[in-house]
Amino acid sequence: MLDRVKFKLNCMNIHSVSTQPFPDQKPGTSGLRKRVPVFQQRNYLENFVQSIFDSLEGYQGQTLVVGGDGRYYNRQAIQIILKMAAANGFGRVLVGRGGILSTPAASCVIRKNKAFGGIVLSASHNPGGPEGDFGIKYNIGNGGPAPEKVTEAIFDRTKTIEGYQILEVEDVDLDGLGTAQLGEMTVEVIDSVADYAELMESIFDFDRIRQLFAADFRLCVDSMHAVTGPYAKTIIEEKLGASAGTVINGTPLEDFGGGHPDPNLVYAHELVDILYGENAPDFGAASDGDGDRNMILGRRFFVTPSDSLAVLAANAKLVPGYSGGLAGVARSMPTSAAVDRVAEKLGIDCYETPTGWKFFGNLMDAGKVTLCGEESFGTGSDHVREKDGLWAVLFWLNILAVRQQSVEDIVREHWKTYGRNYYSRHDYEAIESDRANTLIENLRAKLASLPGRKLGNYTVDYADDFSYTDPVDGSVSNKQGIRIGFTDGSRIVFRLSGTGTQGATLRLYLESYESDPAKHDIDPQEALGELIEIADEVAQIQMLTGRDKPTVIT
Ligand code: G1P
Ligand code: ZN
Repeated sequence: MLDRVKFKLNCMNIHSVSTQPFPDQKPGTSGLRKRVPVFQQRNYLENFVQSIFDSLEGYQGQTLVVGGDGRYYNRQAIQIILKMAAANGFGRVLVGRGGILSTPAASCVIRKNKAFGGIVLSASHNPGGPEGDFGIKYNIGNGGPAPEKVTEAIFDRTKTIEGYQILEVEDVDLDGLGTAQLGEMTVEVIDSVADYAELMESIFDFDRIRQLFAADFRLCVDSMHAVTGPYAKTIIEEKLGASAGTVINGTPLEDFGGGHPDPNLVYAHELVDILYGENAPDFGAASDGDGDRNMILGRRFFVTPSDSLAVLAANAKLVPGYSGGLAGVARSMPTSAAVDRVAEKLGIDCYETPTGWKFFGNLMDAGKVTLCGEESFGTGSDHVREKDGLWAVLFWLNILAVRQQSVEDIVREHWKTYGRNYYSRHDYEAIESDRANTLIENLRAKLASLPGRKLGNYTVDYADDFSYTDPVDGSVSNKQGIRIGFTDGSRIVFRLSGTGTQGATLRLYLESYESDPAKHDIDPQEALGELIEIADEVAQIQMLTGRDKPTVIT
C-alpha cells in the first residue's frame, strides 16, 4: 500500500518558493507564467499546485484533466501533478497521450467528460526550451480559465502554504493509451486528439471540405513545431484528405525548434514566404504554442484577426454548427469594429469587452454570444471556453468550400458590403514602467478636454478610459484602456500589456473606417498615417518612451 507523504517545507523555502508566484503578474488571465529555471526550483511547482487544490472545494473523488503544449518541462510537471492529485484525493485524471493537450482540446475534454476542472501547462506563444518559458493555469468545470475569485484565492494561498501532499510512486507511462492506478486514483492516458476531432466534426461540414480538397484547392498549415501538429495532421490530412505534407512543422518539439510560436506576419515567416511566394497555395494558416491563436492567409493576402471575426460572423449560417444563426457576438475593446457592422446587419447584439478571454466566458455561459474574438489572433465560439486556432481554420475552410471563392475575394466582397476597417497595432516593448505609466496618466488627465476638438482632419467624438460592466454578473472592470473615438468612426486606443514580462509594453491600436470600395486598396500604415501622427501628438509617445518607432507592427 502506498502512503501519502506530507512534506513540510522549512521557512526559508516557504519564502523563496511560495511568495514568488504572482506578484509581478496580473493574476487571472493566463495563470502562472515564468521561465523554466524558476519552475525547476525545489518545491516551486508543487507549492503552486497545492495552492490550486487548497483553493478548490468538493473535488474529492472527482475527475481532473491534465495536459499541456509539450514544451520543455511538460512531462516532468505532469508527473508531479498526477502524484499530487492522487495524494489530494482526486478520483480520476484524464491526461493526453505524451502529456499533450492543446488549450482548446483541454477545454473540450473537461466539458465532454464533465470533469471537475483541468490543469493546462503552457506559456502560449512564448518561446520554450530549458531557458524558455513555462506556465500553468487552472480551468474550471465549464472548460474556461478560472475566474478572478478563484485565481485570487490561489494567489493568496501561495503566500501562506506550508506543505504539500504527494504520493511517492514511480512515474506513470504517458506514451501508451490505457489506465494506471496511482494509490486510489485512476490515471487514464487518452488520445489527445479524438474528443476534439469529434467536436470539430459535429460543427463543420467535413464532406464539403473533403470535396474542396479533392478539387485542386491547395493549402498549407503551419503548426510551428507546437501543439497543433497532431491535431492538424489527424483532422486536415487524415480525416479531410488534404495531401500529406499540408501540415508543416507538425511535430511538437520541446523548444518549438528554437522558434517563437506566435502566428503573426513576423514570427510565422516560413508560412508567409510560402503564401507570398511563387506557386503559392490557396490558403494558409498558423497557430501558436498551445493552439488557441490563429492567423489566416489567402494567396498573397493577409486577413486581419478583426476582419476574420467579422467574416466568420457574416458567413456563420454556411456552417452546420451555426446554421441556426448567432445569439450575439463579442469582441475585445481594441479589436476593430468590423464585427459590429455585421452584428448590426444581422440584428444581433455585439458586446465590447476588456482585453482577455475570460470576459467572453460569462457571456457564452449565459447564452448571449456565440462567436467572439480579439485582435491578437484569437477567435472562438461557445463550442469550448477557450479561443481555438484550429476551429477558426476549419471555419474558414467550410466557408471557402461553400462559397467557392478565394480568401481575397471573400474579404473584398465583405469590405464592399460593410466598408473596410483599416487596422494596425503598434507595440512599444520593454519600455521603462515609469515612463509608460506617466504616458497613460498624462492621457487620462487630458481626456475631458478632448471631445469636440479638431485634430488634423479628425474631430474627437469621445475620449474615455474604458470601463466594462459585465451584463451577467454586474462586476465592473475599470481602467481597461484609453479610447479616443472620432466622429467618422475612426479610433485610437492606448493600453499597457498585462502579459509582457520585461518592463512595460505600450500597445497603440489604430483603426479608421472607409466605406468607399475605390479606397480599399491602400496600405494600412498609409491609410492610418494621420492617426499615427495624431496618436504621437496626443500621447507624446516618442518623447516619453524615447523610441522613434514601435518594436512590432501588426
Ligand atoms: C495579450 C493580447 C490579448 C490576449 C492575451 C492572452 O494580452 O493582447 O488580447 O487575450 O495576450 O493571450 P496583453 O499583453 O495585451 O495584455
Ligand atoms: Zn496561446
